[in-house]
Amino acid sequence: MYRLCAVLCLLLPALAADLPLFYTEPYLLSLEPSSSMDVCWLTSEPAPESFVEFGPGADDSRKVKAVTYEIEGMNTVDAKGNYTVPLKVYQQIARLTGLEPGARYSYRVTSVSSTGFRKSLGGFRFRTAPGAGAPLRFVLLSDLQLRKQIPQTVLMAGQEGPDLILFNGDMVNDPRKAGEWFSAPGTKEDDSLRFFNVMQQIEGGARLLQYAPIYPSPGNHEIDQQDLLASRAECTPEKLSMRIYMQLFRTLYPEQQYGYRGKHWYSADFGDLHVVSLALNRWFSWAAALKPGWFLFERIEAGSPQYNWLEEDLKAAGRRRYVWVTQHWHMFNRATDIDVPYTDPLPSAENPDGVTYDKSADYLMRDLKPLYESGGVNAASFGHSHVYERYRINGVHYIEAASIGNTYRGAKDPPCSTNLNVCPDADETRFRSFLTVSLDAAEGIVAEATQTSIETDQVGFVGRVWDRFRIAPPLTGY
Ligand SMILES: [Fe+2]
Ligand SMILES: [Fe+2]
Repeated sequence: MYRLCAVLCLLLPALAADLPLFYTEPYLLSLEPSSSMDVCWLTSEPAPESFVEFGPGADDSRKVKAVTYEIEGMNTVDAKGNYTVPLKVYQQIARLTGLEPGARYSYRVTSVSSTGFRKSLGGFRFRTAPGAGAPLRFVLLSDLQLRKQIPQTVLMAGQEGPDLILFNGDMVNDPRKAGEWFSAPGTKEDDSLRFFNVMQQIEGGARLLQYAPIYPSPGNHEIDQQDLLASRAECTPEKLSMRIYMQLFRTLYPEQQYGYRGKHWYSADFGDLHVVSLALNRWFSWAAALKPGWFLFERIEAGSPQYNWLEEDLKAAGRRRYVWVTQHWHMFNRATDIDVPYTDPLPSAENPDGVTYDKSADYLMRDLKPLYESGGVNAASFGHSHVYERYRINGVHYIEAASIGNTYRGAKDPPCSTNLNVCPDADETRFRSFLTVSLDAAEGIVAEATQTSIETDQVGFVGRVWDRFRIAPPLTGY
């Protein structure tokens, strides 16, 4: 008996090293962050004995069992390194409830494998959303996509110690590739660039997904079948889905309607901040003027389900909160991809194989922008172009602080946005940066952009706050 145990005790950690029981450290999600927090982590087997121990301060005496889900649709590589092999991935979610607003909790997660191998990760903590009037701050991130500079940018953002993280879309390049998300054995992606590895760094006191809930909006790279998107003949909105993304962030999408015309949006209150996450993207791997034209995977025209939901959501948020919208597709941007209006293509009168677009029917300008202005939106933040640009129009800030990794700024991009021909108040892509937003009912909303790299032209220095601006005045009525 002793010999058997001795062999197994030596063997079990070795097996675990071949296929790690934990694919990720824990990450936090919540639609009610003042009283409830979901602690999630990914495992390589169902691990039905998975739980979280937690408590206020350093007391981990309360215990909540995790619910296990299978994440469907991820692949790993075959012997040639091609992503052809389905990979079993499981998600553990423990919902911590009955929490006090504005309180700190510590926690530890545990899973036990089918062979009895037990692993715990601890020393984590989070702060629940505070009550009205309390200060908080968040960082804006987006467009990681395995870019080589993202570890440093995201690490510095984590060192700000945010209360929450807003993510404006494009987490990986191809969601079905498990190795883009986490360290899956045999996959060749750089370990330091995989999504969860980047977003769970702790060096230098960084506090990211394990410590602060994330509120993402889906980008075009959250669509499962990226290869289908390249085929003008094959691709239609009806064939697309965001199944992997919506499973990974399941708490935020309880209905799991990941297909076309599903509900891909949500909102949550975090203290005085009302976070709205919209789904705005379209696809365009071919010339816009050729049939079938650029189609909308996500609809936002007046009367569409997403628009109707937003109208009601903004009414319910009321005027005693700040409102911030995270969305992937930009409304104002110097890039030429917004020259094509965000609207449905029309048959061309001149060209039987062509389409045209009615600029006056741009749904973002015609319908969404007026709703932001009447609905009390303070800021909308974008991703997609991997640039830093910001605009202020009729009291609403439009911010694309997406120079996290690379940049798609083109030398021939026009100086102003072709939407309304407005020019950015700030525009900088000579170095990388991220945005920290501080929110205080007595001070309003103030944003600061921090430089995270020095490029070949030697502009600035790392750690420099190079852009600081006020987004909203103090709230009144407290
Ligand atoms: Fe992107
Ligand atoms: Fe994008």
